[in-house]
Amino acid sequence: MVKECILGIESSCDETSAAVCLEGRILTNYIANQTVHEKYGGVVPELASRAHLQQILPVVEIALRDAGITKKDLTAIAVTKGPGLMGALLVGSSFAKGLALALNLPLLGVHHMQAHVMAHFIEPPHPRFPFLCLTVSGGHTQLVRVQDYLQMEIVGETIDDAAGEAFDKAAKMLGLPYPGGPLIDKYARNGNPLKFSFAQPQVAGYNFSFSGLKTSILYFLEKENEKDASFIENNREDLCASIQHTILEILLKQLHKSALAYKVKDIAIAGGVSANSGLRQRIQELGQRLGWGVFIPQLPYCTDNAAMIAITGHYLLRAGITEGQDMVPDPRSKF
Ligand code: KG4
Ligand code: ZN
Repeated sequence: MVKECILGIESSCDETSAAVCLEGRILTNYIANQTVHEKYGGVVPELASRAHLQQILPVVEIALRDAGITKKDLTAIAVTKGPGLMGALLVGSSFAKGLALALNLPLLGVHHMQAHVMAHFIEPPHPRFPFLCLTVSGGHTQLVRVQDYLQMEIVGETIDDAAGEAFDKAAKMLGLPYPGGPLIDKYARNGNPLKFSFAQPQVAGYNFSFSGLKTSILYFLEKENEKDASFIENNREDLCASIQHTILEILLKQLHKSALAYKVKDIAIAGGVSANSGLRQRIQELGQRLGWGVFIPQLPYCTDNAAMIAITGHYLLRAGITEGQDMVPDPRSKF
């Protein structure tokens, strides 16, 4: 019998990635990062598309080679359909469509944010349904109630900036290069999280807001800089720890509140910000205190990767949900 073998492709933002999933098991997950954006302090969409174009073929070839398979072994192609940058999505989806057409294989269109949640099914142990997943990335901050593999609803989300954006913008104000989230994480480890306090908004329901925090950090730094031009340099670790603490308080408060309301047994985190060591530790503590199972993806499955696209493809194929050659990427797609 022919074994199910899915090639997953991710190109929604600034990572070009390809993965191979054999019968629901990830064999390879190759990720090419784009360093070209660093000097601009953020992702430049046009440069991202060009870099995807250059990288996509070698990235797919490496993923297939490392998995020890050839194109002929593939039985389906899964690709990110959205949300993301239109030009970046077009590169991945055009490539996937071409390959699916040439090899006469089914095409699977994957929702990027659903895929972040589905990263929890790459390796056991898996969370029990229904569970709540806090999905925190550079473009999104969502509380997702997951009823079944592909059945999920957003119960809360940011009304302005995303959590990753808050990390990156705060890092920029501290003079750190893009993306600043991992650097704030690094400096915060040696700092005092209670040294400085910043605005924490009151938001209705299970939603989030980070724009007030951004303004509060900006005004605070401007004021302190006037008194002492070396303020940031002399307080970098405490500033990072205090900013990170505030972002985590905002996130965990809503996760806690919603998990109680929805009476779930398991809570999870996903997306780039779930790589944050402080968040990983705090959610473990919260789960232990309240008797909830806590699920945290392995680091390579937190930030954008094709393994999460391929595993979502596995469940889409099982459910018989495929796309035609007329599939169009949707930069703002909802689920
Ligand atoms: O999911 P992701 O790779 O891409 C998007 O879909 O946006 O998330 C990228 C975001 C960036 O904002 C980055 O700064 C943040 O995740 N990030 C972190 C850490 N690692 C990545 N933020 C805080 N701490 C980290 N360790
Ligand atoms: Zn993402």
